[in-house]
Amino acid sequence: MLDSLLINCSQLLTMDHGHDHQVHGEEMSKLPLIENGAIGWKDGVIQFVGTTAEALNLKSKKVIDCSGKLVSPGLVDPHTHLVFGGSREHEMSLKQQGVPYLEILQQGGGILSTVEATRKASFENLLEKASFHLERLISYGITTVEAKSGYGLDLDTELKQLQVAKQLAEEYEIDIPRTFLGAHAIPNEYKGKSEEFLQLMKQMFQKLKEEDLAEFVDIFCEEAVFNVEQSARYLASAKEAGFKLKIHADEIVSLGGTELAIELGAISADHLIAASDRAVKELGNSEVIAVLLPGTTFYLNKEGYARGREMIDNGTAVALATDFNPGSSPTENIQLIMNLAMLKLKLTPEEIWNAVTINSAHAINRGSSAGALKVGRKANVVVWNAPNYLYVPYHYGVNHTNTVYLNGEEVAK
Ligand code: NIG
Ligand code: FE
Repeated sequence: MLDSLLINCSQLLTMDHGHDHQVHGEEMSKLPLIENGAIGWKDGVIQFVGTTAEALNLKSKKVIDCSGKLVSPGLVDPHTHLVFGGSREHEMSLKQQGVPYLEILQQGGGILSTVEATRKASFENLLEKASFHLERLISYGITTVEAKSGYGLDLDTELKQLQVAKQLAEEYEIDIPRTFLGAHAIPNEYKGKSEEFLQLMKQMFQKLKEEDLAEFVDIFCEEAVFNVEQSARYLASAKEAGFKLKIHADEIVSLGGTELAIELGAISADHLIAASDRAVKELGNSEVIAVLLPGTTFYLNKEGYARGREMIDNGTAVALATDFNPGSSPTENIQLIMNLAMLKLKLTPEEIWNAVTINSAHAINRGSSAGALKVGRKANVVVWNAPNYLYVPYHYGVNHTNTVYLNGEEVAK
């Protein structure tokens, strides 16, 4: 006897490509789906995936008619800065006056103003605030979400952020893979001493491992933040300490962070708006997942977007994420990101769905547990107020979820 059985799903996106790695290039245009599908689970674990006709003999406590509705796996957001204090609405007018993002940072604002607020905030305060944002992410269909530190820039506050993310995961019974982004900016007390600061952050590696606080190490490789050489050395020690690597690469200035990600075998390279021709080409021959964040380009008011179309045409595996953070992308709306991916990155709807499920799961090492609907996996499932998969990236700016199931339980409606 199942607990729940969804039947008559107009399209059931299983995202089951029949293998366990990310989808590259042309394979991203394949969308594994079942017309008139059904999916059933018990004790939070999927027991059946097939057609409604095949499900006719199954017994279930609840049978839910999903006629006219698209059903998909819970979406995976592989890049967020979920835990932080304060907000930055007071910087909007500076932005409107045309003060560049990196200049606001150099004046001690931007990331550094969030650092100040995060250092001041108590654990409980951060937990409450992050819970609010997490619930909103879930309401848009996300059931797995990566969370970075990087607003502490000192040992205690970096730990506090990661501990908050860990606690959140326990409280909500949701998978929140954690990334240590201590190398996010140079704090005021280390101004002009970036080398010393990176040494300090490296001291965290062992403790993070001991307390199981992070799986990934990330760095903001950017002009006036950390250069390629520093990033290379820092990430090489992180790799040696047993972490998987991520890089905020070529977000604003074309420095070569993308090439570095390829050279070091990072699991993902994120942003890539200013990636060089060489980098765009090389990505296609690598296993590095390009995590594209068009919400950030939109919100920073940039002209040029990451070359997503070209990357996929070159054979790259592309994933999409919100980059939810208080400065460059204050939104939890992954569906808006899907729309931007269609309009600005020129991805097709099929590629977009692969990018927010299977590829985003692989970008955080969750390819075998998230991003696809398969028997034996957790019942993280979204029912959409949409008749087909084309509809979600088409009708923009609103929330299309009908019901979000986390571990088989209805968590948002
Ligand atoms: O991914 N670029 C660096 N980090 C974030 C923004 C952080 C912030 O502005 O608070 C990003 O864009
Ligand atoms: Fe980011």
